[in-house]
Amino acid sequence: MKIDKSVENDGVIFMSIKENDEKVQDNGADDNVTILAIESSCDETAAAVVRNGREVLSNIISSQIALHTVYGGVVPEIASRKHVEKINGCIRAALAEAELTLDDIDAVAVTYGPGLVGALLVGVSAAKAISFAKNKPLIGVHHIEGHISANFIEHKDLEPPFVCLVVSGGHSHLVVVKDYGEYEIIGQTRDDAAGEAFDKVARAIGLGYPGGPKIDKAAREGNPDAFSFPQAKIPGAEYDFSFSGLKSAVLNLINQAKMQGQELSQADVAASFQKAVVEVLSGHAIRACKEYGYNKLAIAGGVASNTALRELLEKECAANDIEFYRPSPVLCTDNAAMIGSAAYFEYKKGVRFGLDMNAVPNLPLGDRERRYHGRSSN
Ligand code: KG4
Ligand code: ZN
Repeated sequence: MKIDKSVENDGVIFMSIKENDEKVQDNGADDNVTILAIESSCDETAAAVVRNGREVLSNIISSQIALHTVYGGVVPEIASRKHVEKINGCIRAALAEAELTLDDIDAVAVTYGPGLVGALLVGVSAAKAISFAKNKPLIGVHHIEGHISANFIEHKDLEPPFVCLVVSGGHSHLVVVKDYGEYEIIGQTRDDAAGEAFDKVARAIGLGYPGGPKIDKAAREGNPDAFSFPQAKIPGAEYDFSFSGLKSAVLNLINQAKMQGQELSQADVAASFQKAVVEVLSGHAIRACKEYGYNKLAIAGGVASNTALRELLEKECAANDIEFYRPSPVLCTDNAAMIGSAAYFEYKKGVRFGLDMNAVPNLPLGDRERRYHGRSSN
């Protein structure tokens, strides 16, 4: 992946992501489906143009991370306001880079949940406005389905069925992707999501926000065996995750050290915590592949960009004859190209949403009834 980055006056980082230096060529086919996709569920405003679910013509991300860093986490009100300011510029840039206009696209897709309601509403309103003004089909996409679909962009040959480990700031799911858009959830977190645990522990050890990448970096200088942290097993639900006990164990260690006037190595705590998380994630994922009989494992979501997780899964997959699929880090964190990919497979199934589509902050994964609320019949 090639990333062109610039920092704007307000501190927002503008990125244009390309698979390589070359422009995607017109393939001459007359049955192409070109989708303009929009994503605004958290602190990234993003727009992309995706052809046939796998070819990215443009991928624009406007990242607000720097604005939220001073507060130690995402401030929903600030995020919504920035989305309003940035969304049109992102859409324009995505179309310009793809050398297309709104008239050239076949459909407009948008993340309509889960996420921060005020943030989601910005993308949803923009997509509905384009759909209405240009009379283009509208497709709502589940954010996590988008994350999973990032794999279809990176790995042009990947097709369902496969197992996918989805680990983001709000979700930790182990799913069987039975077909495009068809998921069976076999495990999920009982408390904190993996990314949430990274963020909370990073704050506790003084690394700040965003926690995941900072722990990832600090851990490279630390000893992963310096401390032994608990890895929760849930009796009767062996594919579920629980990270709150691990987080408490780190907090206890820090408090004890403080009381005893001991200095703790930030890098050692980061490395030991990270080891505990990635071993659980990898252990569950590999066991799921073996027990459910799949030889393909994909990863998705912000935490999937974690170096230690990628390395461990690479090793474990090789040892167990499992093909390992992982999107480039920039396709693991929030972006709109992944939304355009997920939307394509829905589009092909005939899914169309009505203009009554609304943001659904707690939209469940895999629940087609609730997912398609607001869908039109044509
Ligand atoms: O998927 P994402 O960009 O947004 C959500 O849908 O939540 O994931 C963000 C999460 C944050 O918790 C962030 O700390 C975590 O992904 N993350 C990482 C890494 N990069 C991002 N966690 C561990 N290691 C990383 N390198
Ligand atoms: Zn996400």
